[in-house]
Amino acid sequence: MRNRFIVAAILMAVPALAQKYKDAKAPVEDRVNALLKEMTLEEKIDYIGGYEDFYIRPIDRLGLPKIKMTDGPVGTRNYGHTTAYPASVLTAASWDKALAYKLGEALGKDARERGVHILLAPGVNIYRAPMNGRNFEYLGEDPFLAGELAVAYIKGVQKKGVVATVKHFAANNQEWDRNNVSSDMDERTLREIYLPAFKAAVQKGKVGAVMDSYNLINGVHATQQNHLNNEILKNEWKFDGILMSDWVATYDGVAAAKGGLDLEMPSGAFMNRKNLFPAIKNGSLSEEVINDKVRRILRVIFRFGFYDTKYEAVKELKPNKANEAVALDLARGGMVLLKNEDNLLPLNSSAIKTIAVIGPNADVNVAGGGSSFTEPFHYTSLLKGIKTALPNAKVIYVANSIPQLENYVEQSPIYTEKGSVKKGVKASYYNNMDLKDAPVAELTEPNINHSWIQEPGIKGLGEDNFSARYTGVVRTEKSGKYKFSVRGDDGFRLFVEGEKVLDQWGDHAAVVQSKELQLEAGKEYSFTLEYYEHGGNAQIAFAVYQENINFTDAVKAATGADVAIVSVGYNTSAESEGSDRTFALPEYHDQLINAVAKVNKNTVVVLNAGGNVDMQNWLGNTKALLHAWYPGQEGGTAIADILLGKVNPSGKLPASFEKRWEDNPTYNNYYDPDGDKHVEYKEGLNIGYRYYDQSNVKPQFPFGFGLSYTTFEYSNLKVSGKGTDVSVSFTIKNTGKYDGAEVAQIYVHQENSPVARPVKELKGFEKLFLKKGESKTVTVKLDADSFSYWKNEQNKFGYDAGTFEILVGASASDIKLKAKTQVK
Ligand code: BGC
Repeated sequence: MRNRFIVAAILMAVPALAQKYKDAKAPVEDRVNALLKEMTLEEKIDYIGGYEDFYIRPIDRLGLPKIKMTDGPVGTRNYGHTTAYPASVLTAASWDKALAYKLGEALGKDARERGVHILLAPGVNIYRAPMNGRNFEYLGEDPFLAGELAVAYIKGVQKKGVVATVKHFAANNQEWDRNNVSSDMDERTLREIYLPAFKAAVQKGKVGAVMDSYNLINGVHATQQNHLNNEILKNEWKFDGILMSDWVATYDGVAAAKGGLDLEMPSGAFMNRKNLFPAIKNGSLSEEVINDKVRRILRVIFRFGFYDTKYEAVKELKPNKANEAVALDLARGGMVLLKNEDNLLPLNSSAIKTIAVIGPNADVNVAGGGSSFTEPFHYTSLLKGIKTALPNAKVIYVANSIPQLENYVEQSPIYTEKGSVKKGVKASYYNNMDLKDAPVAELTEPNINHSWIQEPGIKGLGEDNFSARYTGVVRTEKSGKYKFSVRGDDGFRLFVEGEKVLDQWGDHAAVVQSKELQLEAGKEYSFTLEYYEHGGNAQIAFAVYQENINFTDAVKAATGADVAIVSVGYNTSAESEGSDRTFALPEYHDQLINAVAKVNKNTVVVLNAGGNVDMQNWLGNTKALLHAWYPGQEGGTAIADILLGKVNPSGKLPASFEKRWEDNPTYNNYYDPDGDKHVEYKEGLNIGYRYYDQSNVKPQFPFGFGLSYTTFEYSNLKVSGKGTDVSVSFTIKNTGKYDGAEVAQIYVHQENSPVARPVKELKGFEKLFLKKGESKTVTVKLDADSFSYWKNEQNKFGYDAGTFEILVGASASDIKLKAKTQVK
C-alpha cells in the first residue's frame, strides 16, 4: 500500500519536474537544468552551431524561440534603415558615461523594435596604432576609459531586455591580415592593457555574451584559446553567459569545444555532429562540456526573459525622434576641437555673408565601413547642417576638386599589345585566388573598370575566390609625367616593363594606389596588372593620366569667402573592417587643404577618421581643426552647432595623436616584419601616453586633450581615505565666457615602485557641465584596482604599499593638481 503511494507520487512529480522550464517563476538555474534534461545529444550539438547567419536555432517542441542577433555598435544595422549613431571612438572622446548609457538604451530600444535579442556590440579592443581599420568601432587606447564606457553602454542595452556582446576577445588590434596573424604578448601586457575592458564588461557590466576575435593570441586561435576562454573568462572572471565565435572564425570543432567556445557563428561548420560525436564516443570530449555550452545559452535565454516573452519586429520601421536626439547629443559631446588659432571659432554667424564648404566628405553620410555600417532613414551632412544654421548666408559648395580615377579610365592610352591601335587590354580570369592553372576565360576588354557585388558574369567564376591578369601597353602622344592609378578590392599589383610599381597584395576594402612615371611620347611600355578577389564586394580599376590639379573650383569658392570649411578624411570604403587604412589622408586631401588655406585665412578643417592622421603637411597652414570622427546621422547639425558656438566643444582625445607614424611605439612591430604571421607586442605596456610619458618623443596632441571656448580653473585637491579606498576631491571653476563642459582626468603614479610601471595611469575621470562663472566640487573614488598591477609570480593583480601620487589633469600632458597618499 505504502509503496503504491510512493510510485504514484513519483509518477505525478515527473511531468511537473520536466515542465519546470516552462515556469516563469522558477529559478533560472532550475529551468536551465530541467530543459537541458529534455534535449537529446543531437539537439544539443546542433544547438551550439548558429542558424541562418544571425540566429540561434529554435526548438519548437521545447518552446525555445529563434534568437535573433544584429550587428552594432553604431546602430542595429541588419534589418533595414535605423538610427545611425556616431562611431564608438566618438563615444570614447565624449568621456561621458551618462551619454554612453543613453546610447545603450537607445540601441536596446532599436533592437527591440526589430525583434532582436542579441546586439553584437560594444567593441573594446585597444587603439594601438592609427591605421587599424576598426579603431572607429572601439573605445580608444586606455583600458580604464574603454572599460568604464563599455560598462555604461552594456547596462543601457541590457536594461532594455537585449543582450549586449562585448567583442572581439581579445587583442584584435589590427585589420591587416586579421584572420592569420597572432597577437603575441607577455601575460602582464595582456592583463594590464588588452583585457581590463573585457573584464569590466563581464564583472561590472554583467554582459550576457562575449565574441571571440579573428586573430590568434600567442599562436592559438581565439576560438580555441583555453587560457583566455576557460581559465580567465570563465573560471577567473566567472563569466556565465555565451561565448560565441566571430563569423567564420572557428577552425577545429573539438579544439573549439574544449577551448571554451559555446556557440559557433554563423553556423556549426565545425562544432557539429560529424566532428563532435566521434570525440564524445571515444571519450576524448566529455558530454558535460557540451552540456555546459547549452546551459550557458539557455541561461541567457531564461535570464533575459526570451523564453517567456515574444520579441517581435514591428511591422513598419520608422525614424525615432528620441533616439535621434541621443545621436545628436553624442555627436555634440564627442567631437574634439584640436586647434583654434586666434580664436577663429566660434564663428560669428551674423558676420558671415559668404561661406565656402569644400571637400569630398561635405555632403555625404560619412561613416566607417564593414559590419557596423548602418543605413539611416535620413542624415544631415555637414553642408546641410551649415545651410540650415546660416539661412541668410551665401553657401558656396564645391563637392570635389579632387581627381577621380574613374574619370580617366576611358581616356587612358592603353592598348592591347605593341603596335596595336585598338584601345583595350587582354584579360585572363582564374577560378582561384593565385592565378594558377589554366584561365577559365580569356577576353579582350575596352578598359579595366569593374565593380562586382555578385558574380562577375564571366563563365567559370563564382562570386568570390578568383583572380585576373590584365596585360597591354601604354603609349602616349606627349612626353611627361603620368600617373598609373589602380583601385582594388581585394589585392592587386602592377608591373610596368616587368618592374613592380604598385603592390597591395592582401585582403582589403577598395583602396587607390598610384605611381607617377616619366613616359616618352610614342614609346610603348608593357604592363601587367594582377588582381584577386577573396570575399565581399569586388573592384578593380586602372587608369593612366596626366593630372592637372589646381583645385580651381575650390580656390575660387574660398577666395573672398568670410570662412572656408574643408571637409576631408576617410569614408566607408577607405576606413573599414577587413583592412587597415593609411596614416596619410587619402590622395589629394592634403593639397586641397593647403590650396584653400592659402587663399582664405579663416580656414577650418573638419576631419573624419577613426583616429589620428598625418597632419604635418597642412596643420601649420590652417587656423582651426575639428575632429568629427564618424559623427552619425546627426553629424552635420553637431558640426554647425560647434563651429557657430551654439555648442561648446567638450570632447577629448581617447588616444594620443603622434606627429609621425615613426613616433608611435609600435612602429617597428605593428606589421609582422619577418612575415611569420606573429605580431610581437614588443612595446609591452608602453602604448599611447604610457609611452610618451617616458620618452623624449612628444605627440602632436596628447591623450585626453581637447579645446573649449571657455577656460577652467582647477583647485582645492583633497585626497583622503584608508588603505586602497581613496577619495579624491577637487573643484573646477568655469572662468571663461561660455558655458561648457570639462573632462577632468585622474591619473595615479607610484613613487619608487619596486617594479617597472608606467609613469602614470588613468584611474578616474568625470565630465562636468559648468555655466560660466560656476564651480563644482567633484569626488572620485579610487580602489585597490587603481593601485594594482599584474604580479606575474603570484598570477594575480596586487599592489606594493608605498607612496602614490594622485594627478588631476585636463589631459595626460596638462596636470593641474597633485597630491600624495600613502597606501598600506
Ligand atoms: C565582425 C563582427 C560582426 C560579424 C557579424 C564579423 O565580420 O568581425 O564584429 O559582428 O562579422 O556581422
